Amino acid sequence: MKYGHFDDEQREYVITQPDTPLPWMNYLGCQAYFGIISNTAGGYSFYRDARLRRLTRYRYNNVPLDFGGRYVYLRDDESKKFWSPSWEPTRTELQDYKCRHGMGYTAIGSTYSGIEAETRYFVPLDENLEIWQLTITNRRDTNARISAFASIEFCLWDAQDDATNFQRNFNTGQVEVEDGVIYHKTEYRERRNHFAYFACSEPSRFETQGEAFLGQYRGWDKPVSVEAGELKNSIAHGWSPMGAHQVKLDLEVGETRQIVFVLGYHENPVTEKFDPPGSQTINKKTVKPVIAKYLDAKEANAAFERLRLYWDSLLGVFQVDTPDIHTNRMVNIWNAYQCMATFNMSRSASFYESGIGRGLGFRDSNQDLLGFVHMAPVRARERILDLAATQLPTGGAYHQYQPLTKRGNNDIGGGFNDDPLWLIEGVSAYLKETGDWSILDEPVQYDNEPGSEQPLYEHLQRSIQYTLDRMGPHGLPLIGRADWNDCLNLNCFSDTPGQSFQTTTNKDGKVAESVFIAGLFVHAGRELAAIAKHRGLDAEAARYIGETEKNMRVIAEHGWDGEWFLRAYDDFGSKIGSKDCEEGKIFIESNGFCVLAGIGLEDGKAESAMKAVGKHLATKHGIVVQQPAYSRYYLQLGEISSYPPGYKENAGIFCHVNPWVMIGETRLGHGDQAHDYYSRINPSAREEISDLHRCEPYVYAQMIAGKDAPSFGEAKNSWLTGTAAWNYYAIVQWILGIRTSLDGLEIAPVIPKSWPGFTATRVFRGVVYRISIERRGDGNSIALTVDGKAIEGNVVLAPTDGRKEVVVKGILS
Ligand code: BGC
Ligand code: NOJ
Repeated sequence: MKYGHFDDEQREYVITQPDTPLPWMNYLGCQAYFGIISNTAGGYSFYRDARLRRLTRYRYNNVPLDFGGRYVYLRDDESKKFWSPSWEPTRTELQDYKCRHGMGYTAIGSTYSGIEAETRYFVPLDENLEIWQLTITNRRDTNARISAFASIEFCLWDAQDDATNFQRNFNTGQVEVEDGVIYHKTEYRERRNHFAYFACSEPSRFETQGEAFLGQYRGWDKPVSVEAGELKNSIAHGWSPMGAHQVKLDLEVGETRQIVFVLGYHENPVTEKFDPPGSQTINKKTVKPVIAKYLDAKEANAAFERLRLYWDSLLGVFQVDTPDIHTNRMVNIWNAYQCMATFNMSRSASFYESGIGRGLGFRDSNQDLLGFVHMAPVRARERILDLAATQLPTGGAYHQYQPLTKRGNNDIGGGFNDDPLWLIEGVSAYLKETGDWSILDEPVQYDNEPGSEQPLYEHLQRSIQYTLDRMGPHGLPLIGRADWNDCLNLNCFSDTPGQSFQTTTNKDGKVAESVFIAGLFVHAGRELAAIAKHRGLDAEAARYIGETEKNMRVIAEHGWDGEWFLRAYDDFGSKIGSKDCEEGKIFIESNGFCVLAGIGLEDGKAESAMKAVGKHLATKHGIVVQQPAYSRYYLQLGEISSYPPGYKENAGIFCHVNPWVMIGETRLGHGDQAHDYYSRINPSAREEISDLHRCEPYVYAQMIAGKDAPSFGEAKNSWLTGTAAWNYYAIVQWILGIRTSLDGLEIAPVIPKSWPGFTATRVFRGVVYRISIERRGDGNSIALTVDGKAIEGNVVLAPTDGRKEVVVKGILS
């Protein structure tokens, strides 16, 4: 069953039924000011940091779901009936309900008793504000007297404190209202130099005290002052400051009116906070022109157009036309868009990530680069340098850092032994995309200590050294607190409720080893060797290759189980992911990543490992993490065995790692199998089973319940997941095979046999490549011509004569 449909022309998903199985979200903003918004207008806004600069309040885990939002109410001032065009919060039965989630905007509307209304929400580029454009049309055959209300609840900035510290917070709230603009100034009197505002394009009555608006013991579905049809111009002191505007409209038959609301964030220099100086009144000199500008519908429309062009240009970097609509739509629109969201948010703010828990993950952010570096190389460069500056002198990494301070997060610490290697992967992806070798010479601090600057290249060297310094009894890398699988906590041994699995360490960590890190080391070591070679450091490159070969020998000897790659050794030196285990006999990560890294391609191990994955782990809804699932808690394994079977890391379908197997299959030349796995978790291909899948059909979720779960096939944790980048990377660079390399654009498709070919446009290092691939045989060998001339091999080099457009034709046989 579906709840809407894709509109690929408009790059929208159109939801036509408001009661989707879960709130279906979208993101507003792409630079510093952000919001999340659901299909019924739930969600919240923040500036840069979802925890520390939260503008509006959201009630997690609310009953009903998804409360706190950008709510609009309409009231028929004759019949006194009121409703919300976005369905929530009043949940009135509506006609023609539609939510259009698009690239950086959402428009929600409907018709009720002959009044048509739609609100379009978006954040203009380069501004710290959001615009709501409410358009109302009278479709009745009589005139209508309508009150339009728009409302938000302010958050007292620190979202964690806001949700817990009521003895203080009920006393601190303050607002100002000037020229009809509501200014939220809680804590502005003391250490904050920022405030929020909520403005309306029409003369309005207003409300700023939550209780005055809602009424005692009422919810958002029935605000007392909407019911009464008259806001009371309340001024909040303490309790819950909010912003509501009321505009009265007399609509003639067929008449359309638009009201613009602007919700925004503004900072003042500390010396110019007040106007007049010495007073307690906010200095509004610099914010007023901004507000005035965007309350003008013409300016708002122009800003919307600019946003459209921005997305045109980002998505235009890579476009493809294949025989598979789900591939096209995800690659051309939604997967790329999701990659930008994961870059902007990391794992901080979604319906599932509360925005108060996590900073930016070191490994997550490096992997996210794979999915967005082609669209935002300048920002990728900055992100890489920020990440590297949190690296420790040992080469180790803080597991997370805070985006507002850009410092490593001490509470979580480090010791996740895969982390540093992802920096090499991230930098390598950046170099392959941009050819900007200067980044390697950029001086970067360690642990953000001034004076500790060394070239970025040295950070990469230390990353490799970090692994080499931490080898275990079998010669495999020690796992530390965890590797990619945050829940494989082999040194944790926690029997105390509430302890963090990720930071509790009861073993000294000298025994437990990870075959996955060994595979990652081989891959990252080769990447760094190629980079070293490019810099003319042949001896160093040879040393890295030597180390990767040594690791491969160890993997062959101690990391191979006969039919597949082992996963790890625990603190007792016992195997994990072996046929000898009672549970958890085979895992996806080591098998996927080792084959992706090219390990075992020559001696049949790769072929055998992929077969075993297909046999033991693949299901119709995707590939599960391991089998059999852990049926009980194992002290020596940690969080992985804390989940009931089939969920999350305990045999759930972790969509992040499915692409490793897809890539592995392409390395074996199995295009049909690779694309089949791709399609099993492709959200668009799952649209028809939305009632089972439950999450948004336009973005990936982190997890789909595995076959051991009663809800097999149900997705959770959509949007912010490494799944976005890895699936994008797998389909674009390995299945379609349009791959960046240090030298140029490599073309090596491993596509399904049934495809007659495909065409693509790729903007790469300033040149437009128009690529067409034609299948003339069943295999994967490719013969390329560039502008009609045959070339050797499959790397297309940049034109030497300054041409900015190149035609590449490939014949597959
Ligand atoms: C989740 C992991 C996540 C970890 C760290 C765990 O509860 O299962 O997927 O990586 O938390 O935030
Ligand atoms: C989600 C985390 O953000 C990521 O870093 C980790 O690799 C996966 N979960 C698997 O545990």
